[in-house]
Amino acid sequence: MQKNKKLISVVMVIIAALVIPFMGCAKKDEPAPDGKKDEEINQAQAIYVGSDKCYGCHTGKEEEVSANSHGTAFKSLESFNVKIDEQIKVYEEVKDGEPKTYSLQDAKIAGVMSDHYVIGALDDKYFRVAGVHLENGQWKLEPADTKDINNDGTEDWLIKGYTCGDCHSPGLAQGPEKIATAEPGFSCESCHGPGSIHVTTKAKDAISNGKEACVNCHTASEPEVEGDILIAQNHYGTRSWFDSNHNKGSAEDCLNCHTAHSVNSEGKMLIQNSAQEVCGNCHGNAMNAEDLMWVNPTDARDHFTKDHSFGKYPYEAYDDDPETKPVEIRNPDTITKMKKKMTK
Ligand code: HEC
Ligand code: HEC
Ligand code: HEC
Ligand code: HEC
Ligand code: HEC
Ligand code: HEC
Repeated sequence: MQKNKKLISVVMVIIAALVIPFMGCAKKDEPAPDGKKDEEINQAQAIYVGSDKCYGCHTGKEEEVSANSHGTAFKSLESFNVKIDEQIKVYEEVKDGEPKTYSLQDAKIAGVMSDHYVIGALDDKYFRVAGVHLENGQWKLEPADTKDINNDGTEDWLIKGYTCGDCHSPGLAQGPEKIATAEPGFSCESCHGPGSIHVTTKAKDAISNGKEACVNCHTASEPEVEGDILIAQNHYGTRSWFDSNHNKGSAEDCLNCHTAHSVNSEGKMLIQNSAQEVCGNCHGNAMNAEDLMWVNPTDARDHFTKDHSFGKYPYEAYDDDPETKPVEIRNPDTITKMKKKMTK
C-alpha cells in the first residue's frame, strides 16, 4: 500500500538520521569528535521503556499529554462501560475459503480507537473486532461490520483488518513482543523515540526532541480517484498543508501554530486560545482564520481537519457537491494541481 510505503520510507529516513551522525565514531576509547559518549553512539540500540519511566524526572508532562487529542486517541474498553455478551460470535472473512468464527469474548481487547473502533487480538493478530457508539448517553457495543456470512438469512458480526496502528495506536504497532513495556496508544516515545539509554544517562542526545515526528502520521494521504473526481477522505485534512507557503519543508513548521503537549482553553493543541490569535502573531488582525481554514460542511463526525492550504485551495476551488457526504474535488484545474503534488 502506498501509505505503508510512505510510512516505511519516513521510518528509514528517521533511522538514517539517527544512525548517520554516529557513523565514523567507531574508535571506542576516544570521545567522538563533538564530545559524544559511547552510550550516545549506541542510541540506535535503544529500546522502548514506556512512559512511566519518564514521569519521575519530567513532572507535569503526563498530565499535559494525557489531556490532548493524542493522549485520548486510544482508550481502554473499561472506560466505555460496555459488556461483551458471551453469545456474540464474530466472523473473519477469509479469501478463498470458509469464514473463521470466534467468540468475541475470546478476543484480547487492546482498547478503543477514536471512541469508536474496538481493537482486539485473535490468533495473535490485531483486528477491529467491534465498535462502540453513544446512544442516549449510554455506550453500546455494535459490530465492526455486518454480512450474512453463513447464509442463514440474518446479518452476522464481521471483524475487519487493523492497519491503522502505526498512527492511531503507535504502542500496538511496535508489535506484540514490545507490548509488555509499551502502552497501546500514544506514549512519550511515540514522538521522542525509544528512551532506554536516555533514562539512565539523562543525555539530551540520547532522545529525539520530537520536532520531526508530526508528519510521520499527519501525512499527505492520497484521496480516492473515481473517474474524473477525487474523493477526499478523513485523512485528507492536512494534505493541503504540503502545498502551503507556510510549509518550509520541515515538520517543525507545525509548531509555529501548534503545541507539542499542552492544550489551550478549548482543549486544542494550539499555541493560543483561538485560531484568530495564532494568525495575528504574524499577520496582525486583518487575517480571518475562519474564512481561510474552511471545514467540510457535510462531515457529520467532524473527522476532517480544517483546510491547511491557507488560501491555496479555498472551498470553492474544489467544486464539491454539498448534497453528498465526503468532499469531492470536481474542478479539473484543482485536480491537475493536486495530482502534480501527489506524484512528486
Ligand atoms: C533520570 C531522569 C530522566 C528520565 C527518567 C528521563 N529524562 Fe528526559 N531529560 C532528563 C534531563 C536531565 C534532561 C535535560 C538534558 C540536557 O539538557 O542536557 C532531559 C531532556 C529530555 C528531552 C529534551 C531533549 C532535547 O533535545 O532538548 C526530552 C524530549 C526528554 N528528556 C524526554 C524523555 C522521555 C520521553 C523520557 C522517558 C522515556 C525521559 N525523558 C526520561 C532527565 C530524564
Ligand atoms: C499514516 C497515518 C495514519 C494511518 C495509517 C491511519 N490514520 Fe486515521 N488519522 C491519522 C491522523 C493524523 C488523523 C488526525 C486527523 C487528520 O489529520 O485528518 C486521523 C484521523 C482519523 C479519524 C478521525 C478521528 C476523529 O476523532 O475525528 C478516523 C475515524 C480515522 N483516522 C480512522 C482510521 C482508520 C480506520 C485507519 C485504518 C484503516 C486509519 N485511520 C489509519 C493518521 C492515520
Ligand atoms: C505528539 C508528539 C509528542 C508526544 C506524544 C510527547 N512529546 Fe515531548 N515534545 C514534543 C515536541 C515536538 C517537543 C519540542 C517542543 C518545542 O521545542 O517547542 C517536545 C519537547 C519535550 C521536552 C523538552 C521541552 C520541555 O517541554 O520540557 C520534554 C522533556 C518532553 N517533550 C517530554 C515528553 C514526555 C515525558 C512525554 C510523555 C508524557 C512527551 N514528551 C510526549 C513532542 C511530543
Ligand atoms: C504516531 C502518530 C502521530 C504523531 C507522531 C503525531 N500525531 Fe497528531 N494526531 C494523530 C492522530 C491519530 C490524531 C487523531 C486522534 C483522534 O482524534 O482519534 C491526531 C490529532 C492531532 C491534533 C488534533 C485534532 C483535534 O481535533 O484535536 C493535532 C492538532 C495534532 N494531532 C497535531 C500534531 C502535532 C503538532 C504533532 C507533532 C508534534 C503530531 N500531531 C504528531 C497522530 C499523530
Ligand atoms: C499557520 C498555522 C498552522 C500551521 C503551520 C499548522 N496548523 Fe494545524 N491548525 C491550525 C489552526 C488555526 C487549526 C484550527 C484549530 C481550531 O479552529 O480549533 C488547526 C487544526 C489542526 C488539526 C485539527 C484540529 C481541528 O479541530 O480541525 C490538526 C490535526 C492539525 N491542525 C495538524 C497540523 C499539523 C500536523 C501541522 C504541520 C504539518 C499543522 N497543523 C500546521 C493552524 C496551523
Ligand atoms: C509564525 C508566523 C506565521 C503565523 C503564526 C501564520 N502565518 Fe501566514 N504567513 C507567514 C509567512 C512568513 C507567510 C509568507 C510565506 C511566503 O510567501 O513565503 C505567510 C503567508 C500567508 C498567506 C498567504 C498565502 C501563502 O500561502 O503564502 C495566508 C493566506 C496566510 N499566511 C494565512 C495564515 C493564517 C490563516 C494563519 C493562522 C491560522 C497564519 N497565516 C499564521 C507567517 C505566519
